[in-house]
Amino acid sequence: ADAMDGLVKKIVQGGRGVWGEVPMPPNALITENEAREILKYILSVGQESARLALSGAYQLESPGPDADQKGARRRNRSLPPKLLIQASYKDLGDDGVPSLSQRAVRMLQAPQLDAARAHVMDKVEAQRFGVSVRHGGSLIYKGLDMTQVDSLEIGLFASARMNHTGGQVEVRLGDPQGALIGQADVAAPAPATPGSRGGFSRTPPLPISLMPQSGLQDLCLVFSNREAKEDQPLMSVSVLSLRPSITQSKP
Ligand code: HEM
Repeated sequence: ADAMDGLVKKIVQGGRGVWGEVPMPPNALITENEAREILKYILSVGQESARLALSGAYQLESPGPDADQKGARRRNRSLPPKLLIQASYKDLGDDGVPSLSQRAVRMLQAPQLDAARAHVMDKVEAQRFGVSVRHGGSLIYKGLDMTQVDSLEIGLFASARMNHTGGQVEVRLGDPQGALIGQADVAAPAPATPGSRGGFSRTPPLPISLMPQSGLQDLCLVFSNREAKEDQPLMSVSVLSLRPSITQSKP
């Protein structure tokens, strides 16, 4: 325990002279408790029994509807939750040793993407819910973390009442010419018969399997139907959901 205390002090305050003239600068952001955890881990390496986990899950608590969010919800009912994770390191430097610092920030976004909030849209028109797409139309979402995502579900429908033709949906990397990683067909709508509700029946989300990707990617959805007339809409698209390949059990 004494040796432990000495090393904790050394991590927080730095030191010199034990391993030569090169000093270790004090670590400004590390508390004694954190230093103790770091040490426990370092000392446990190689000891099968006492090893700390190299990975784990962190269960987030919903922040609940505070005033700020309520306002945001009123403006846009489908505002997706976001999580900001920041990791930083800074030491104080020492004689002849400049201070080192590093900071990384990562924004995690709920895996539901609003069609009307794509970063780039082409041949697409905003509607009350979602967007209406034409032949050659595209939606681009930038910087999506595709780690462990193996499929996409798209909320969409093709309706005769809206003169939709149906067509094909392609998922590409980057832009409409990018590598194809998934695709699916949307059938032409059944003709609206008098008295029926004209194809506004509930359409289940369209699943699209994706070739596995890693890290941050720009995703581009491309809609096509060569048979459609110049201005004819193919379908209406409301929301996209990224689906993970592993599902975590809820406690
Ligand atoms: C959280 C990060 C770090 C931890 C946990 C850590 C841990 C330690 C520990 C426990 C020692 C004592 C070894 C002993 O007395 O036998 C040590 C020494 C040392 N560390 Fe670090 N260290 C960290 C960051 C750094 C950095 C950023 C540098 C260089 C810029 C550095 C350079 C050194 C040097 C030169 C020594 C030898 C000092 C001496 O001779 O007394 N360390 N470190």
